[in-house]
Amino acid sequence: MSDDEDNRPPIDPTTAAGIDTSGRWRVEVVEQSTSTNAEVAERFRAGEEAGLVLVAEDQTEGRGRLGREWVTPPRSSLIVSFLLVPGEVPAERWPWLPLLTGVAAAAAVRRVTGVQVDLKWPNDVLADGRKLGGILLERVERDGAAAAVVGIGINCAQTQAELPVPEATSLALVTGTPVDRVALLAALVEELGARYDEWRAGGDLRKAYLELCITPGQEVRVAVPGGEVAGQAVDVDASGRLVVRTQAGEEHLGAGDVVHVRATGA
Ligand code: BTN
Repeated sequence: MSDDEDNRPPIDPTTAAGIDTSGRWRVEVVEQSTSTNAEVAERFRAGEEAGLVLVAEDQTEGRGRLGREWVTPPRSSLIVSFLLVPGEVPAERWPWLPLLTGVAAAAAVRRVTGVQVDLKWPNDVLADGRKLGGILLERVERDGAAAAVVGIGINCAQTQAELPVPEATSLALVTGTPVDRVALLAALVEELGARYDEWRAGGDLRKAYLELCITPGQEVRVAVPGGEVAGQAVDVDASGRLVVRTQAGEEHLGAGDVVHVRATGA
């Protein structure tokens, strides 16, 4: 085994397949994927049922939010997509899915590593203010049924030089020790399953989300389709939209890329 493999052990597919004993999730590990989100979406269109959890050691066309790419060296990250088919949940409650995924990802990282991660609206996972993980949720349809493909990437072993931007970080950089990616995956499966069940049952995840999201209270610049909104983030509303107080009044934003300019009142 090379030094690199010692430092970045592969995820054992058999161990990963055994992390869920309820029979609810089917965990598959592949060496390489174009994009786990793209593959899970394709498999749903081809007849796959809810519960697939696809993990890849490497992606050749990893997708980020807002049309960006998501690039990670092989075996450096936890790269995973879940296939959820919420069926009866009304469309107006779907905006909470990406947010509750952020809550689950943050809870899993906290539980396994002890790192007190936060969320930046809508669902960037931050450690010490730097981006540790991202979430991309895509809606896919088949014969009138809608699925949510929930993709999560968490930086685990990257060195600073391997990160795409200086504002990013990895668990290895934050903790100084390697993270057990199977333990992280197991925690994520459990945390996401619990929040998803709560949401499907009509539960309100706003309080849990606001406990982790540090965007309200900050001066922000938000890149939105066709422009930018600048002001003070004051809340996340009942529909999961970011409320920003600008000179012109309050705006409720459903999508956008937030920059925390500086904390206010500190
Ligand atoms: C972001 O831009 O913050 C979202 C990044 C989401 C990356 C994950 S990695 C697993 C899944 N597959 C993809 O192609 N993207 C998501």
